[in-house]
Amino acid sequence: MQPIVDVSPPKWHLGHTTWFFEEFLLVPHLADYKRFDDSYAYVFNSYYESMGKRVVRTDRGNLSRPSVSDVYDYRKHVTNAMRLLLGGPISDEIKPIIEIGIHHEKQHQELLLTDIKYILGNNPLQPIYRDKTDEVLIESQSHEMLSIEEGVYQIGYTSEDFCYDNEQPRHRVFLEPYSIASALVTNREWIEFMDAGGYENVLIWHTEGWDWVQKQQINSPMYWYYKDDQWYNYLLSGSQKIHPDAAVTHISYYEAFAYAQWKGMRLPTEFEWEVAQDKFQWGKRWEWTESAYLPYPNYQKPDGALGEYNGKFMVNQKVLRGASIATAAHHARSTYRNFFHPYLRWQFTGLRLAQSL
Ligand code: AVJ
Ligand code: FE
Repeated sequence: MQPIVDVSPPKWHLGHTTWFFEEFLLVPHLADYKRFDDSYAYVFNSYYESMGKRVVRTDRGNLSRPSVSDVYDYRKHVTNAMRLLLGGPISDEIKPIIEIGIHHEKQHQELLLTDIKYILGNNPLQPIYRDKTDEVLIESQSHEMLSIEEGVYQIGYTSEDFCYDNEQPRHRVFLEPYSIASALVTNREWIEFMDAGGYENVLIWHTEGWDWVQKQQINSPMYWYYKDDQWYNYLLSGSQKIHPDAAVTHISYYEAFAYAQWKGMRLPTEFEWEVAQDKFQWGKRWEWTESAYLPYPNYQKPDGALGEYNGKFMVNQKVLRGASIATAAHHARSTYRNFFHPYLRWQFTGLRLAQSL
């Protein structure tokens, strides 16, 4: 199913991550490799113009074939070929492509789960994905504003391990003094915002955000609904009453911004977040920042098709920092830059407030 353009069918994620290994590693680097099915290069290419034509994103949900079992057969074929490739000598040329193939699949593991939540949560029957999840994040940290001194700070990834191109080069950024919240904004606080007419107060919204609220008739976070004088939300474990002490989740950048305005505060920039991140707990919710998704000074995109991975999206999107409960193990880094359009909220997004001192 593809209920909205941003949500891909689960089997498409499985096929696409497989395609990535096939096209970037096996076809160019494994002698005598034969594609599982020549049409899959068209079916499972996401957005790589340099890799040829593809099913447009809006049509992914129309792929009644290949079937799920075809896709699993495809994965077996590619896994077996990857075993052969990994059994041979691993050159300096292919090692980084293997690494990015694995990290790419981890990114899609997260997208797969958030997409499954959207698919089930927008089914009127609200099916349960799994009885027990750790989805509700109780914000038990004390709510304080942590002060950070002005100064020149280093931003970006340094170590030798894997990181994405958009986390480099490491460079200096000057920060004015600021404070940043130790805890994420909670549902209780969000309900206060709603009860105070936050969604009806034009003065705290961007024009784009206000238009979005009007057109989409937004009056609560995604997955929330009101029944018998009580707010509920859909979770992967099924519908539940809103837990007041849990971190508010599934909000857009527009909403995060409006909330901060209403509080007389603001969102941290991605640099403020990175400098302060060792002073608070993070990693269960993506946190909207005030930063536009832009290249760091002297950013180099990789040569060839993999240059399309991140760089070409550096326009009109906002950076999110942290990670979420759906993030694959070992895929969270303090320098990781997630990015989405400001109206999107089907990922596990939340917010942390900041203030200039
Ligand atoms: C980093 C999550 C915005 O969804 O397009 C998947 C991840 N990149 N395949 C996205 C990604 C290539 C990316 N985000
Ligand atoms: Fe992808």
